[in-house]
Amino acid sequence: MGNARHVVRTSVAVLGFIFALSLVAGAQQPPSPKVKTAKQQFKNIRVLKNLPANQLNPAMHMLEGDLGVTCGFCHIVDKWEKDDLKPKATARKMMIMMMALNKNNFEGKQMVTCYTCHRGSPDPVATLVLPATTVKFPPYDGDWHPMKPTYPSADEIIDKYIQALGGEAAIRKITSRLITATLTIPTGPGGTTEAPARGEIYLKAPNLRLNVTNTGKATIEDGFDGTVAWAQNVRGVVAPAAQLAQPVYKRSADFYEALNIKKEYTKLEVTAVEKVNDHDAYAVTGTLPDDTPETLYFDTQTGLLLRKITSLPTVVGRSPFEVEYDDYRDTGSGVKIPFVVRSIPGIPLGATASRATIRIEKVQDNAPLDDSKFVKPESKPQPPPAPPAPAPAK
Ligand code: HEC
Ligand code: HEC
Repeated sequence: MGNARHVVRTSVAVLGFIFALSLVAGAQQPPSPKVKTAKQQFKNIRVLKNLPANQLNPAMHMLEGDLGVTCGFCHIVDKWEKDDLKPKATARKMMIMMMALNKNNFEGKQMVTCYTCHRGSPDPVATLVLPATTVKFPPYDGDWHPMKPTYPSADEIIDKYIQALGGEAAIRKITSRLITATLTIPTGPGGTTEAPARGEIYLKAPNLRLNVTNTGKATIEDGFDGTVAWAQNVRGVVAPAAQLAQPVYKRSADFYEALNIKKEYTKLEVTAVEKVNDHDAYAVTGTLPDDTPETLYFDTQTGLLLRKITSLPTVVGRSPFEVEYDDYRDTGSGVKIPFVVRSIPGIPLGATASRATIRIEKVQDNAPLDDSKFVKPESKPQPPPAPPAPAPAK
């Protein structure tokens, strides 16, 4: 039952935080040179046979969000391999249908996903709801051509952002940072209960990061050592973060991420003005070298980054990961950073209903931090609880 329990634990016991924070207790299997397929690792896989086993869990989380249900809609919890519930059988058929639609109509690209039809409900609506959604006509010019709004260029928006943070010169003067913060981290079924914690975040250029999170009951650590994102769970076991999420952790550890935006993307385009928590923001869509689209939202007034949406591939559709940046303040070095950061879900590829928040209390720029601080620790699994003491002899 190890595998099945493992899957659940990931969805319920998320301890950790992102961007300004990262991750999780026991999220992923230890590294193995040969990745097992789902069929090899689980008991009753009939459709997703060739899926790498460690990608089953993120796909299951996606199904929850896609259909607006919990695991129990398709499974009897802890008897994951059983086929007792009808929706599980239907879901298998739907997976086959979805894959065939994509193969036969979209050259195998993942254009149709569960969400295309389900939109967060188990019962897709087949009939138009009346009155029909009001059609919004864009403004037209004198020749009845739709008028394209004019936006500043992506370069201008990013330059303004860097200025708003304090400018490149001021940013580069800082090479390390120590942050003390309070956090809420996702716990409970589906990660929907937010528990308070305290955290320290150690950052050093170019891309070293260590998060130490204390929940009052336990301390967990996670970080990026320059090469790999890892997490140490409450039981002392150190494991790399989810393979698919590694690029997200790597980029969030970039000490000069703001200065590197233009280099990160192969294409950057300003697509719209949208509201982000009551602020108007330019939506700038970028494409990463691996074709992952990301959207950055910059406040049209202050120029500051308000939100970043990325998405990670799963077999049933891309899993969105959203980070919001709020309450920008000067750290004391003439450089602004967001003092509130929220991530939804709490970790990339996590339960889609979970969230995590960090509130910075104190920042120390150019704190002396030795590189050794960021070395991935050895696993120190704690011994299992001692067997009950024998009854005292009479
Ligand atoms: C919409 C239905 C649906 C939901 C919701 C769902 N699953 Fe699944 N799950 C499936 C289907 C279908 C399979 C089998 C896939 C196959 O045969 O290829 C499966 C397989 C599994 C397996 C493999 C079991 C084995 O040993 O064969 C595990 C573990 C699992 N799911 C866990 C979860 C967890 C945990 C959640 C909630 C986070 C969840 N599932 C939510 C439909 C669902
Ligand atoms: C092309 C549209 C479409 C796509 C794509 C699609 N579904 Fe469905 N799905 C439907 C419709 C329509 C129904 C309702 C059928 C009915 O009411 O009998 C349904 C029903 C279901 C049900 C049964 C719900 C219940 O109330 O018992 C499950 C489970 C399900 N879909 C899972 C999935 C999963 C998982 C995916 C992605 C792998 C998916 N669907 C993709 C259209 C779609």
